[in-house]
Amino acid sequence: MFRSTIVSGGRIGLLGVAPVVMAALVNYGGGDDLCPLFPGSSRFLSLGRNVDVYCPPRKRARVIAPHGFSFSFRGREEVAAEKQQPRSIDTLPDECLFEILRRLPGEKERSSCACVSKRWLMLLISIRSSELAARMKTTDESVKKPMPDLSKGVCAEDKECENNGYLTRRLDAKEATDIRLASIAFGSCSRGGLGRLFIRGSNSTRVTDVGLSAIAHGCPSLRVLSLWKVPLITDAGLSEIADGCPLLEKIDLCQCPQISDKGLIAVAQKCPNLTSLTIESCSSIRNEGLQAIGRCCPNLKSVTVKDCLHVGDQGIASLVSSASSSLQRIKLQTLNISDIVLAVIGHYGKNVIDLALIDLQKVNEKGFWVMGKTLGLQRLRSVSITSCSGLTDLGLQAIAKGSPSLKQLFICKSDYLSDAGLRAFAETARALENMHLEDCNQVTLVGVSSLLKCNPELKSLALVRCLGIKDITLCPTQIPSCVSLRSLTIHDCPGVTDASLQAVGKICPQLQNVDLSGQIGVTDASLIPLIGNSKAGFVEVNLSSCVNVTDALVTMLAKSHGGTLKVFNLDGCKQITDRSLLAIADGCSELDNLDLSSCSISDYGVAVLASARQLNLRILSLASCSKVTQKSLPFLGNMGSSMVGLNLQHCSLISTYGIGLLEEKLWWCDILS
Ligand SMILES: *[C@@H]1O[C@H](CO)[C@@H](O)[C@H](O)[C@H]1NC(C)=O
Ligand SMILES: *[C@@H]1O[C@H](CO)[C@@H](O)[C@H](O)[C@H]1NC(C)=O
Ligand SMILES: *[C@@H]1O[C@H](CO)[C@@H](O)[C@H](O)[C@H]1NC(C)=O
Ligand SMILES: *[C@@H]1O[C@H](CO)[C@@H](O)[C@H](O)[C@H]1NC(C)=O
Ligand SMILES: *[C@@H]1O[C@H](CO)[C@@H](O)[C@H](O)[C@H]1NC(C)=O
Repeated sequence: MFRSTIVSGGRIGLLGVAPVVMAALVNYGGGDDLCPLFPGSSRFLSLGRNVDVYCPPRKRARVIAPHGFSFSFRGREEVAAEKQQPRSIDTLPDECLFEILRRLPGEKERSSCACVSKRWLMLLISIRSSELAARMKTTDESVKKPMPDLSKGVCAEDKECENNGYLTRRLDAKEATDIRLASIAFGSCSRGGLGRLFIRGSNSTRVTDVGLSAIAHGCPSLRVLSLWKVPLITDAGLSEIADGCPLLEKIDLCQCPQISDKGLIAVAQKCPNLTSLTIESCSSIRNEGLQAIGRCCPNLKSVTVKDCLHVGDQGIASLVSSASSSLQRIKLQTLNISDIVLAVIGHYGKNVIDLALIDLQKVNEKGFWVMGKTLGLQRLRSVSITSCSGLTDLGLQAIAKGSPSLKQLFICKSDYLSDAGLRAFAETARALENMHLEDCNQVTLVGVSSLLKCNPELKSLALVRCLGIKDITLCPTQIPSCVSLRSLTIHDCPGVTDASLQAVGKICPQLQNVDLSGQIGVTDASLIPLIGNSKAGFVEVNLSSCVNVTDALVTMLAKSHGGTLKVFNLDGCKQITDRSLLAIADGCSELDNLDLSSCSISDYGVAVLASARQLNLRILSLASCSKVTQKSLPFLGNMGSSMVGLNLQHCSLISTYGIGLLEEKLWWCDILS
């Protein structure tokens, strides 16, 4: 039982604490007020024993008997003997211990004392920086500038990593406790101060305001705070953060049901450098909190508000209008907001670069139309609109007119957008580079070809699950040409078959990235013209689930594009055999990532691949390759130092033992099995 105490702090207890505390007491020149009992004070956390005694100052010397802390390295008898002596410093009530601890001379001593026990740690973190005696005497730099040069705190056992020069901690649900936060607060002071804290909790996460206060008191240079599902945190905890962490730049609050406007207002008032705010599923936050953020945070660049029941037009509109000089990114999702908000964004969003509107059921055509018509979104580069039934042809056209810099459009789940809207948009949005249409079932190839024809800068086009896109015969004047297009994705559009795909090569001769995953109807016949017409050389090809593609096509591709091909996905192409691997081994010199999951390849193919000297694969998947056996393991073992990822999941003929051996051989490589 004592062992565990020793591990957490015994060594420091023996070497450091007793003299330190002693010194604090000796240096203390005050009178009997050392142990003031704060009647009615709620500051003291009721932790540890509630020893309700008054301790007159003359007892102090005896309390800190030299052996008081040195139990850790002594024998059982001595420990037992000490147990019988009730006069340890720990018999002092919290109030007295608090007074002692706040008089410790420096961060190092406080850090050491924090390791003595849970009770000491919790008392130490309840001390605000303004209450530190050392700070009162010397003009204490340590509060602003965290201590350099401290031996690594024994308490600080948490995962950590340096990032952008800031110490970063990430806690998941199991790790997140108040004690953990307190020890982070102490442990990190010694290493330049905590810069970023991420807590990813669960409904049962027990982190409370106590833990958050510890961070607030111990981490004055905190810049990023992310609280995800931390249900017990309240405004009090967030206010402590606002008080203690004035440098805060980014705050994310997700599923924190007890945080309300009060907490947000505290942050707004105390953290002028806030640049990024995310609020998601926080049911107690209403409009006032967002209004305060808009008013008080002149540097706010990015705001995300999602699924907050009580946030409405007023909150968002006043946030956007008062932060208009800085605001660059806005994401609004699942909110009870109306056309008014879009009008305000259109009017005040002069610096907005990136706008995402998702699942806004109360926004109508008029909202989108006004947003574009106000001509305020001059810098807008990227728009993403998902599940907004108010988006129509008219609205999309107005957006294009109002935003001449628009480069990226992402539209998902739009029931009303049609070819006419797409054409009007295409004719106006001359700077467009990336277009993504997903679940837009009114759109057909006529609309798509107007995009290809009109937008000279278009580099990337994705069509995902658009059921209205079907093969049609375009008259020659309608056939577009788009030499700028580099990337084409056609994914799960069952109406697109050979007839359309055969034309793609002619229309887009400079394609480098082709993703036809999920196009189960694709055949060799549709791809051969595409390969033949390509002038640029393919770099990434995704034929995942194109079940009818054969070795002949892969052979042709490897021959004509082997010098450029880097990423090749043949997942689920059941007709692909070792013949394809011969062609790849022979023709591809740049290949980096090869996915052969569920292909019909065998050990022979793996051997061929492994012996291809010019290949430096980094990632290889052989998942669900039912013909690959144990015999492949030596070849895989020789794949070389370039391999960082190997997927052998569901390879039923390879034993766990064999994979273990391979893991030893390729210890630098991540092997999935
Ligand atoms: C968490 O909460 C959700 C919904 O409130 C519930 O369905 C789920 O069972 C809870 N999980 C745990 C681990 O309590
Ligand atoms: C805010 O940031 C600026 C520069 O990034 C810095 O000069 C200033 O001191 C910061 N303000 C506060 C209150 O920390
Ligand atoms: C949505 O907002 C409108 C007007 O702003 C309000 O009248 C209505 O009660 C709100 N609905 C909900 C569910 O809060
Ligand atoms: C290929 O497509 C599949 C299915 O859409 C996707 O999961 C995968 O990430 C893609 N692979 C590459 C390398 O793009
Ligand atoms: C693949 O090709 C075979 C034979 O040509 C055909 O019967 C089958 O329907 C094709 N599969 C798909 C998914 O198109």
